[in-house]
Amino acid sequence: MAVVSSAHSTIFSKTSLFHHINGFKRFSFCLHFSSSAVASLSSKKKWRQPVASSMLELGGIKIAKDDVVRDDPTNNVPDTIFSKLGLQLHRRNNHPLGILKNGIYEYFDTNFPNMFHKFDDLCPVVSVKQNFDDVLVPADHVSRSYNDTYYVDSQTVLRCHTSAHQAELLRRGHTHFLVTGDVYRRDSIDSTHYPVFHQMEGVRVFTPDNWEASGLDPTSYAAEDLKKSLEGLARHLFGAVEMRWIDAYFPFTNPSYELEIYFQGKWMEVLGCGVMEQEILKSNGRSNSVAWALGLGLERLAMVLFDIPDIRLFWSTDERFTSQFSEGQMGVKFKPFSKYPPCYKDMSFWINDSFTENNLCEVIRGIAGDLVEEVSLIDNFTNKKGMTSHCYRIAYRSMERSLTDEEINDLQWQVREQVQNKLNVVLR
Ligand code: DAH
Repeated sequence: MAVVSSAHSTIFSKTSLFHHINGFKRFSFCLHFSSSAVASLSSKKKWRQPVASSMLELGGIKIAKDDVVRDDPTNNVPDTIFSKLGLQLHRRNNHPLGILKNGIYEYFDTNFPNMFHKFDDLCPVVSVKQNFDDVLVPADHVSRSYNDTYYVDSQTVLRCHTSAHQAELLRRGHTHFLVTGDVYRRDSIDSTHYPVFHQMEGVRVFTPDNWEASGLDPTSYAAEDLKKSLEGLARHLFGAVEMRWIDAYFPFTNPSYELEIYFQGKWMEVLGCGVMEQEILKSNGRSNSVAWALGLGLERLAMVLFDIPDIRLFWSTDERFTSQFSEGQMGVKFKPFSKYPPCYKDMSFWINDSFTENNLCEVIRGIAGDLVEEVSLIDNFTNKKGMTSHCYRIAYRSMERSLTDEEINDLQWQVREQVQNKLNVVLR
């Protein structure tokens, strides 16, 4: 169950591991697909007529629905996730996520003219190696589990963070870059968690001539530059706010930090960052260098900057939402067009050993889609025989219209049936 207060805390920090207790939380080159995925991509092209709606082109790579959603025990990508793959909200200049991305670009362009190379169309289907191994995520890290990550096959995933592109870009010789993209995580359901969201990654590499003149050791030099640059970014986005640096842990940086700002009466995490682990630089052709890296979640920042109360709104095509934002207008406050009443339905069942809340949420989203606002555990007990019962409250609410009783009852019946059949739990 998500207990964090705003959208998608960085999963790799220790604090967010702690928060997410229960099951917690290609660019243009084909190289990144596992060999089986590449084979199926190329062989299918020959004989199958592409169906417009189920064939996507991402970063120059063609992807068909059944390259990503497969009837295979190592695949856990549902149709609802495939349907998000080509949408790239961060590339729409009139969308809050695109406006925020451009606002961050503006900061880097003004302060580091012509320095940072920008990527926002790298393919989200990446190898396990790119997503985890290349950035030193330990073999037993919770984020690698099928419960937390969408696997296309055992060697291929939908990236769960934009850090998946760090190593590849370094190897290609890039030393200053920003990567923006959609990222995918199996998760619980509430107003700040959605299984697809957007991140921006930043990397800056320094060479000995940079730090030698400073009298600082390379790590301190990079850390100082990092802090100065990111404090500037936070001021660019939020104005003259109070800031603090919190020591953090990420597998790919050392030291690692989180930047927090005091905003609207509370401390809020803005981003995770740190000095890149030497091993990543060394493995990717930059032995004599030091670098900083940062990762930020666009939704969590856009929600506070634009006053957007629910993460599902980013996906809304309702004109009453979309018409409120326009290119270059950072921080325009969203005016809710109407608040429709929620409808609550409870369901209780005896769980089994393999039950996870993420699996439950996936089933519910598969049926109710964006009509489900929140799923919360409201009761949990174990009887004398050692059987554990959970009671979940599902809040149904549309952002766009009133739902009828009939419609909700119908959804709830389907939810009950599929929860029982797919999760093998016993309804009470
Ligand atoms: N990849 C991290 C996450 O999704 C965010 C992050 C933290 C990226 C620190 C970085 C970094 O590059 O240095 O949780």
